[in-house]
Amino acid sequence: MHYLRLCRPPEIHPGRDQPILKLVLTITTDLSDSFLSPPSPIPLHILGAYNETDANGNKALVPVPLTPSPPPVWRAGMRVLKLHLPLPPSTNPKKPRVLETIQIRPADIGLTALSTSDILPGNRGLIMPVYADMPRPGGPGASATPQTCFRSLRIEPCLRPAATGPQQRPQPPALLQIEEDLGESIARHIWDSGVVMASLLTDLCLGGGGGGGGGHGPRGLPLFHDLLVTPPDRRHDGRGRGLNILELGCGVGVVGISLAKILSLRQTTTTTAAAAAATVAVAAGGSPHILITDLPEAEEKAQTNIARQQRGHHAGNAPAPEPASLDFEPLDWTDGQRGVFGPKAGARAWDLAVVCDCTYNTDTIPSLVGTLSAVHRMSAEKSAPGDEAAPEEALAAGAVPAAVDTAVLVATKRRHESERSFFDLMAGEGWVVKESTEVPLPRLGGERQVVEVYLFRKQR
Ligand SMILES: C[S@@+](CC[C@H](N)C(=O)[O-])C[C@H]1O[C@@H](n2cnc3c(N)ncnc32)[C@H](O)[C@@H]1O
Repeated sequence: MHYLRLCRPPEIHPGRDQPILKLVLTITTDLSDSFLSPPSPIPLHILGAYNETDANGNKALVPVPLTPSPPPVWRAGMRVLKLHLPLPPSTNPKKPRVLETIQIRPADIGLTALSTSDILPGNRGLIMPVYADMPRPGGPGASATPQTCFRSLRIEPCLRPAATGPQQRPQPPALLQIEEDLGESIARHIWDSGVVMASLLTDLCLGGGGGGGGGHGPRGLPLFHDLLVTPPDRRHDGRGRGLNILELGCGVGVVGISLAKILSLRQTTTTTAAAAAATVAVAAGGSPHILITDLPEAEEKAQTNIARQQRGHHAGNAPAPEPASLDFEPLDWTDGQRGVFGPKAGARAWDLAVVCDCTYNTDTIPSLVGTLSAVHRMSAEKSAPGDEAAPEEALAAGAVPAAVDTAVLVATKRRHESERSFFDLMAGEGWVVKESTEVPLPRLGGERQVVEVYLFRKQR
């Protein structure tokens, strides 16, 4: 995929007749190691969202196209694009309009990644738009220009479940919004594998090809589909409990946050019979809990993104239901491999550990694998049968829970062959690949690329 990027924060300068919005853009890969070189020029579209107050004092965000005529274009060979855009003057000089947010995307919607359903087909959603909150003139924090931008995707499966039950009022689409740092540095950014995983999870949990419809999950991951949608039944009363998911190396939080959002949506969606059945299943099992972890320096951005998600970003500004709980805790794999966990990671038995795009550095692969095995060990010990007083009838009925057997989901866009050592080390520690799939990446030109997804379990 390619990503529109702001090289520096957008600026508004007072022009002679009207204010001027100054933008410096580029379009690169996720690693920023090459610029987009399209076969034909790509016209761009710039949209502003203004905060306006109506006669009754109600505030609303109003979209206003800011694209000049002719539109700016991105051509092969370009490295940077500088734009000076005159902003529409305020109609009421006493109440100047405030530009809150801008969106920059290809003018051709077919090239643009606007929804998770644009990603999986592999031939659309080739370029990820960029959004930025504008600095507030004179407002709180006016001196601190935001050095961040954000990405926004509607959470929509490629294949919707068949509508077999009574239809409810359609809900506004849910949005996944992830903040990242500006510019081309590769720290604190979103990555292809995370975007693909968010899209795959949407299809698995909310799609018609298996999410809620019973049968096998789509995309060749039936075991993983079942793990996500069937509550683990470990309680003596047989009601099950919520799924516990631990993410390692979460970065800005794309995968864990989308999991929380998607599992919440699955839990609250009742527009179809299939989804209603799923609602009952998950509700009976309690709410899922997702803990995302990374090095301490990743915490600030991950927490910002958790807060962004919990504010609820539905298109149409409707409040978002969030039954799945979501939290962050630092976890360095050099500690994890020795079984040293923080209070949050150490508090639960984890049904699933998720690792996305973390296997590219051969130096850290041994501690990552060691941490996965230590999580498995701790989870089994924490949940070992006999640590709770089971009623005799439950014992007789064989309802005593089994120890939690942590599964591991790994997604990777392989960058070099040495990543093979991750799979060798996993095999050496008794981890077995139970199923796998390849998801092609949307790509404009260049070689075909895929994100590989693996579900591991420990050999018994
Ligand atoms: C390429 S990023 C992937 C981020 C995220 N999983 C995604 O797909 O967007 C790799 C992540 O691994 C984390 N990481 C690297 N070494 C680590 C370690 N020793 N302990 C914990 N996290 C580590 C980095 O901080 C970084 O966030």
